[in-house]
Amino acid sequence: MGTRKTALITGITGQDGAYLARFLIDKGYDVHGLRRYDAGDNDLARLDGIAGHRRLHLHYGDMTDGGGLFSLIHSIKPHEIYNLAGLSQVQVSFAVPEYTADADALGVLRLLEAVKGMGLAAKTRVYQASTSEMFGNAPGPHNENSPFAPCSPYGTAKLFGYWTVRNYRDAYGLHASNGILFNHESPLRGQEFVTRKITRAVAAIAAGSQEKLMLGNLDARRDWGHAADFVEGMWLMLQQDKPDDYVLATGNAYSVRDFAGAAFAYAGVPVIWRGRGPQECAFDARNGRMLAQVDPQFFRPVDVHELIGDASKARRVLKWQPRITFEALIRDMMDADLAEAGAISAHGASFADAAE
Ligand code: NAP
Ligand code: GDD
Repeated sequence: MGTRKTALITGITGQDGAYLARFLIDKGYDVHGLRRYDAGDNDLARLDGIAGHRRLHLHYGDMTDGGGLFSLIHSIKPHEIYNLAGLSQVQVSFAVPEYTADADALGVLRLLEAVKGMGLAAKTRVYQASTSEMFGNAPGPHNENSPFAPCSPYGTAKLFGYWTVRNYRDAYGLHASNGILFNHESPLRGQEFVTRKITRAVAAIAAGSQEKLMLGNLDARRDWGHAADFVEGMWLMLQQDKPDDYVLATGNAYSVRDFAGAAFAYAGVPVIWRGRGPQECAFDARNGRMLAQVDPQFFRPVDVHELIGDASKARRVLKWQPRITFEALIRDMMDADLAEAGAISAHGASFADAAE
């Protein structure tokens, strides 16, 4: 019988970390997770159900702490490292640009240097969580050969990480791959990202505990997939004989307005949009009540207007295919948030009818 595979996931407490940890445990891996210390002690919420699993091992650490990373990798000597940790909220990166570069750019360098320095190049494969945000406002659809033009501290830091992976691959023979992932969401998505902000607010409005939803740029378009599909793609990249870079995306883009409209519709509330720019609002089509409004505080210093990906290479080489549609994503997120808001018991029949 072969030795059990060991994986280290940095950022295990995040959305993707939680989905990937479950995925790898189901595949029989021993999973080690790097977690930051959290005084609030609430950081394991997303690992609900696997937190006490005998094949899940959690370790304190931080991407800004090179010595700690070195010691951890030295003690585990994992077969696979999935580097998912870092500041991931684009708007927040404008407020903490130096920290973003430390965690998201230098953090990658520290991790790769640890693998190289310990002579693990032949054993340890590395996945780097690169991002479509690196394309910035360069026109899409974007594939692995599209030019990069990042327009946020987050995007520029991630681009440093991307090139460091390629450099360590070429210079030292590391099996290190970049997944250039387009937006992927789920019920575990952080509440500060627009999709989850919308589904939570729509559920709360339906439950009667929130009056309206405040949003920024309604015209922004994103290629939204489901995190469950995307973590499988990460794993597939590390199962290849050779390291490489891959775009993962659905190939379909929708606006923030589309997403909000679909979430309201799922909750049984038809909306119509009126006004333009900062004056635009959504009204309940049945009674004219205002349900959503633009608030310029959510505008970014520079925004990426449209991201749409071309994942043909991943389809061809990895045989990767996203299975969860835009509609199914909305359903999954809305069901979770409606249940949490208590809206299903209050309005069960009408929501169920709307979902048909
Ligand atoms: P997420 O939910 O924000 O999770 C980020 C994780 O990184 C959390 O576990 C967080 O820990 C941890 N972290 C943050 N700073 C850290 C530091 N200095 N040291 C150690 N851990 C740190 O993000 P996600 O959606 O799962 O995304 C995973 C990765 O993929 C991120 O690197 C993101 O930039 C990238 N990405 C995401 C998408 C997407 O659409 N989701 C698309 C492309 C790329 P705490 O719990 O302590 O905050
Ligand atoms: N967060 C947020 N909140 N975004 C809003 C809002 C709002 O109230 N209103 C409009 N938006 C717009 C943003 O301006 C942006 O154009 C779009 O909605 C998506 O914003 P986010 O959900 O915050 O995600 P993101 O696209 O900036 O970044 C996510 O995807 C990247 C991959 O493309 C993050 O997961 C990044 O970590 C990831 O790399």
